[in-house]
Amino acid sequence: MFLSTLFHKSLKQYKGPGSVAIPKNPAEWPASWKRIEYKSYGNLSQVGLPDSLATSLSKSIAARKSTRSYTAKPLSLHTLSHLLRYSCGEVGGAVDNARKRRAQPSGGAMFPIETYVLVFRSSLELPSGVYHYAVATHSLDILWQRSFTAEEIGQLYIYEKVQDAAAAIVMTSVFARNQQKYGERGYRLALIEAGHIGQNVYLLSAELGLGCCAMAGSYDHAIESILGIDGVTESVVYSVIVGEPKR
Ligand SMILES: Cc1cc2nc3c(=O)[nH]c(=O)nc-3n(C[C@H](O)[C@H](O)[C@H](O)COP(=O)(O)O)c2cc1C
Repeated sequence: MFLSTLFHKSLKQYKGPGSVAIPKNPAEWPASWKRIEYKSYGNLSQVGLPDSLATSLSKSIAARKSTRSYTAKPLSLHTLSHLLRYSCGEVGGAVDNARKRRAQPSGGAMFPIETYVLVFRSSLELPSGVYHYAVATHSLDILWQRSFTAEEIGQLYIYEKVQDAAAAIVMTSVFARNQQKYGERGYRLALIEAGHIGQNVYLLSAELGLGCCAMAGSYDHAIESILGIDGVTESVVYSVIVGEPKR
């Protein structure tokens, strides 16, 4: 067994080893939680950098932010399709003869990350439920069409704001896909890949005028249970919630 298997198991619990109680009111946080630290070389000479170009991508990066207040409106199927295609879908071109290129880079092009969508807000186009993103056909596998009460969403994510989000994009890792090649280090590569996908979701959201927020505050066991995965060979690694921002 890999150490990372044990390690991942030990950090599944939201309040796992080493965590501290976080006061709800930020005014009660210690000063060190509210300060950004910068590495400084003191008086070392510096090369000043010129102003950068304003491209559409740099504008989306500058507009990227975490949104914590949503209108509870559903996403259109077009919007979800765009988010999935350009965060983790096949985008044309090829890595090599056998493998199509995706929106995110992947260590060794082993693509350990699977993506699911928990649709909290129903629409005629897409009823609420649990879906798996089928990358090869750019479609959604219907795992479970069902409604979510606020209480049920509260059993998946700790923050109340999630209850008004349209959906959660959940990334899991099928660890063996890259650990067969990279062993222990494959674990690190999988987490990095999920981060790339998450950033794509942030940038696409900024471009589309959507709100989104990365969600470390998840109850992984409960999410794994509704996804129907064992949490060991395939396990939740990251979620990003999306929805129409309250203005
Ligand atoms: C891995 C990761 C997990 C995060 N988890 C949460 C979370 O559980 N709840 C939350 O409100 N924000 C979460 N965030 C968002 C950060 O709080 C946010 O990125 C940070 O405050 C900077 O704000 P900005 O994204 O608007 O620039 C998370 C961000 C990252 C990268």
